[in-house]
Amino acid sequence: MKVLGIETSCDETGVAIYDSEQGLLADCLYSQVEIHAKYGGVIPELASRDHIRKTLPLIQEVIKEAGIKQEDLDGIAYTAGPGLVGALLVGASIGRAFGMGLNIPAIGVHHMEGHLLAPMLEANPPKFPFVALLVSGGHTQLVKVTGIGQYEVLGESLDDAAGEAFDKVGKMLGLPYPGGPHVAKLALSGEAGRFTFPRPMTNRPGLDFSFSGLKTFVRNTIAEESVHSPLSEQTAADIANAFEVAVCSTLAIKCKRALEKTRLKTLIIAGGVSANIELRRVLELSMEKINGKLFYAQPRFCTDNGAMIAYAGCQRLLAGQSDDYSINAQPRWSLETLTSI
Ligand code: KG4
Ligand code: ZN
Repeated sequence: MKVLGIETSCDETGVAIYDSEQGLLADCLYSQVEIHAKYGGVIPELASRDHIRKTLPLIQEVIKEAGIKQEDLDGIAYTAGPGLVGALLVGASIGRAFGMGLNIPAIGVHHMEGHLLAPMLEANPPKFPFVALLVSGGHTQLVKVTGIGQYEVLGESLDDAAGEAFDKVGKMLGLPYPGGPHVAKLALSGEAGRFTFPRPMTNRPGLDFSFSGLKTFVRNTIAEESVHSPLSEQTAADIANAFEVAVCSTLAIKCKRALEKTRLKTLIIAGGVSANIELRRVLELSMEKINGKLFYAQPRFCTDNGAMIAYAGCQRLLAGQSDDYSINAQPRWSLETLTSI
């Protein structure tokens, strides 16, 4: 089954074709980063307008790249939520209409299910059951995954998502948007241990997260360090390093707890922040200690992309699921309400 996947939930237009027999046939991504960078964050209306400009040309491009004709497609998968409603509506309308025009089924995919299943695109995919740490710009969740659509949220962020905290700290340090990869790069030249930041909510039981206090701690440190002179490049790097270490060790402590609670030894990480090298390093170390295994996708499938949507939609379409002719866009949508296959 050949499935066209369309991702337009935020600021990337991702389109891909996944074949259940041959794997990923084509994958194109257009990032709107330059459009939003000058505002320091995503402007929803600009995002929607740009998805309108880019989605159809990208669909033509992937069909060409896959070496197929549009009539060879067997199904359409589009991101139905969660995300920015206007942006979602672009992919949903185009996807739904494309399915109708070709007389093939279409299905709305949950964006976080797409992320969660992205490691399945790799050569050595994880096997169910496992614990998933979903860390993106909008979500930080620990999920017990028993199968596709069988998700139990064990804990989640009560305020900022991990990626959002990276982006806000990036902004405080004067780095370009989105801050995550820039903070990670700057942290590399930082002196480890010059600053020690708190690991929020780790000294009490539970699997929820909170990153807003840590963000305030960073803001206060920057203010103290720049009282007499502007923040030096080295101090900025030292702060980035301490922040990254605090986030990654907080995430690692909670992952360990979630694995203990579920008695599982397989952990997958997904979403934009799962591209972070320090996070991968600390989690590899802690999985080694318990004789467990860590899985993640290659960096281009950690951040938003069409391949993960094509893959997730393909699994559901293969199981006989599809949507009616309505255009399905849900800005808020809980993973736990999904049906299993
Ligand atoms: O999954 P994603 O592409 O979009 C959402 O669904 O939100 O995640 C984007 C987030 C941004 O906050 C970005 O700064 C963060 O992932 N991110 C990173 C890295 N690469 C992307 N954060 C830390 N280190 C990275 N290397
Ligand atoms: Zn995402």
